[in-house]
Amino acid sequence: MALWGARFHTQSDRRLDEFNSSIAVDQNMVNEDIAGSIAHVTMLAHQNIIDQESADEIVKHLKQIKSDIETGALVIDPEAEDIHMFIEGELTKRTPAGKKLHTARSRNDQVAVDFKMYAIKSCRIVSADVIDLINALLEQAEANTETIMPGYTHLQRAQPITFAHHLMAYVEMFKRDLSRLADAEKRANQCPLGCGALATTTYPIDREMTAELLGFDGPTLNSLDGVSDRDFAIEMVSAFSQIMMHLSRLCEEIILWCSWEFKYVELSDAFATGSSIMPQKKNPDVAELVRGKTGRVYGNLQTLLTMMKGLPLAYNKDMQEDKEAFMDSAATVHHCLITMTPMIETMRVLPENMRKAAAKGFINATDCADYLTKKGMAFRDAYTTVGQLVKYCMDHGLTLETLSLTDYQKASELFDEDVYDAIALETCVSKRKAIGGPAPETVKAHIESVKKELKNY
Ligand code: ARG
Repeated sequence: MALWGARFHTQSDRRLDEFNSSIAVDQNMVNEDIAGSIAHVTMLAHQNIIDQESADEIVKHLKQIKSDIETGALVIDPEAEDIHMFIEGELTKRTPAGKKLHTARSRNDQVAVDFKMYAIKSCRIVSADVIDLINALLEQAEANTETIMPGYTHLQRAQPITFAHHLMAYVEMFKRDLSRLADAEKRANQCPLGCGALATTTYPIDREMTAELLGFDGPTLNSLDGVSDRDFAIEMVSAFSQIMMHLSRLCEEIILWCSWEFKYVELSDAFATGSSIMPQKKNPDVAELVRGKTGRVYGNLQTLLTMMKGLPLAYNKDMQEDKEAFMDSAATVHHCLITMTPMIETMRVLPENMRKAAAKGFINATDCADYLTKKGMAFRDAYTTVGQLVKYCMDHGLTLETLSLTDYQKASELFDEDVYDAIALETCVSKRKAIGGPAPETVKAHIESVKKELKNY
């Protein structure tokens, strides 16, 4: 008979039980559930709502249950309705005082506080993972501030940059992800325990005390909202989705860079896979899987948003679906991040191939036009002049570097011997020292500032 079975005439159907049960998912919150109960019962005794002796007995047994689960002496019953019922049931089996635990509490505020604590914990794990990834990117960037590569727009070679500059773009993305997670966590930090089923309780509970015991900034300020708010889960999964989107873009690039068409990097054998039929293959499966798993996390965000959109206040059972979507997202992002980080750390960069690619595609054409502009020609005229030079080079199998000075001067008298230096890729890169630019000194300063910033996390 279920704990709530007193008013029912018959036992619940086996199919209802299976369908209704959430233990397979919410058993992951066992530690949060026990912590929540300990805080609750401590407060109940403090407020003289239950006697101190019973509270001590309950706390003792809850701690024992926790350690029995950890050692395997107690196995969570897969047929229990949920983790809350299982723990309360087990506690009551061990001590009659257990029957007092649920005084002034409902599963609605219980699940809300458990889930919030679990979500905040997940958020911190993912933040630490993101920091590790940023550090891996910083390390590769530091080693490649002079590694010239083509920068792209439309996946067409555009202007010369460095590999460090390219990686630092991702560092900026992941820094924003970190601040999104921190922001979501800040807003999640109000404790719903004490909201009861929906309208708090008539007992003289102390919500500030339980909030503090559980590490929250304070209690939630409306009980209907407290039990039925899942914004925190949505915000975090939204932040997770953006992390996945960033990871997926990086992965897409790594997949391209590993191809024979680019060969800008080579993955360590420890982070690549082979083919069952083609002996020569070395595949970037990790990057592909991360790209693929991005869809799962987006899907979970959609699940949560859709789950909430039609719900009247306050708690509705629909909300039991929240944990699976959240936990799957948190686990997926965590798994992706902890695999990507060592893959990036061990990735071998091939600067010669990047340099070779940078030498083709006229990526210094803008600089050539700027050369004329600096000598007094209007930019639009310079643009046209260089466009015609590029056409001439393409027709004659030349590059701007191999074009003779005579040919240059035929196009404009402003050209002189110093044009070759002006269009050298090293010059093009080192002159772009504006804030955010690829010049080695600029990127080095950026790397240092990020390192300093990370110390605050
Ligand atoms: N397993 C439930 C959930 O995850 C716990 C809350 C149940 N509350 C209720 N009134 N049925 O949402």
